[in-house]
Amino acid sequence: MTTSLERARGATLPEAIPPETLARLPTPCLLVDLAAADRNIARAADYYAKAPVKLRPHFKAHKCTQLMRRQLAAGGCVGVTCATPHEAEVLAHEGFPRILVANQVINREGLRALSRAARQAQVSVAVDSLAHVNALTRTAAEQQVRFGVLIEIDVGMGRCGLPLGSDQLVPIARATNASKRLDFEGLQGYEGHAVHKDDRALRRTMVWQAAQVLRAERARLEEAGFECQVISGGGSGTWDLAEETGVWTDIQAGSYVLMDSEYGSLNLPFEPALYCAATVISRRSSESGVLNAGLKELTVEGGMPRPVRAGLRVLGLSDEHARLAVAPGTSLEVGDTVLMIPGHIDPAINLHPALVVWEGGDQLSLWPVDGRRALTSLD
Ligand SMILES: Cc1ncc(COP(=O)(O)O)c(C=O)c1O
Repeated sequence: MTTSLERARGATLPEAIPPETLARLPTPCLLVDLAAADRNIARAADYYAKAPVKLRPHFKAHKCTQLMRRQLAAGGCVGVTCATPHEAEVLAHEGFPRILVANQVINREGLRALSRAARQAQVSVAVDSLAHVNALTRTAAEQQVRFGVLIEIDVGMGRCGLPLGSDQLVPIARATNASKRLDFEGLQGYEGHAVHKDDRALRRTMVWQAAQVLRAERARLEEAGFECQVISGGGSGTWDLAEETGVWTDIQAGSYVLMDSEYGSLNLPFEPALYCAATVISRRSSESGVLNAGLKELTVEGGMPRPVRAGLRVLGLSDEHARLAVAPGTSLEVGDTVLMIPGHIDPAINLHPALVVWEGGDQLSLWPVDGRRALTSLD
């Protein structure tokens, strides 16, 4: 099976980027291979344009509205997904018309941000208690806005969402329906426990199990007179598995655009398109090296970043450094630029104010990670 690292070693960026352009990179930084990202975007868009299930791409992966615009322009999408009220506000401000906040929101700041977003866009929110419905109802009335509502079901991940068979399901739908400013839209069921499983057959089984849960809860709602127009969930690891169950209406994949090494081992049809570029600052012995990128640029919960150059392995990260093991015969000089595939992109990107985008040849540009939260006032 070809991993994303092996594909990267033979793929476009590391070989095609001119050495002078590589040397110009403001390391440490995150570098997007735009051609690879566009190919990933096109692959997903082609699939969802033809499939009955559609894409509602998740913004949380890259938090970059310029990238998200390309995803929507490619087609196959029914809006965008985001994780936080702040992301929803940014997306609404940037003109994205249909936004799903795939999370519960109850804090004052979050509800305010949601209502600001709802003045500019159609905003839907996940709930799993009457407290959320009441808070959304109050906020919507005070701020003269509307919200769509999806009731989240825990389909096996054990995070948010009502457990299967909860006696709260119908009361929550009823309370939503009774509110003049809320629109009951359906269910959210995200199978996050399945998306990273290496074995596709296991992922498929887990997706079918999650679908059974959602099917049962949809039936209970229908019996009580509530129709689910939306059933939203899914991620990059299960991007094409939901369709066969016939349950989900849209898929919230986000990582597929840039990928990371966690997803790279799943043999998905998406290429690595994001690298951390770092400079070799020390070669204190023939078998070791040190880079100027550490935990302030990358995270390790998805595994160590993977250098693209053969013969290099990251042993560990500290605040500002990556320690490398260098195999015999590997050429590596102090001052060289090394590209690494991050283990898990979402938290890594959140550490950076902007992405350096390589558009081919010597073309580099800066795309802001504009969905990051910057706390600037206490009002
Ligand atoms: C609610 C929700 N939907 C979808 C996703 C899918 O994201 P990815 O593309 O990284 O699999 C996530 C990821 O954490 C999520 O939390």
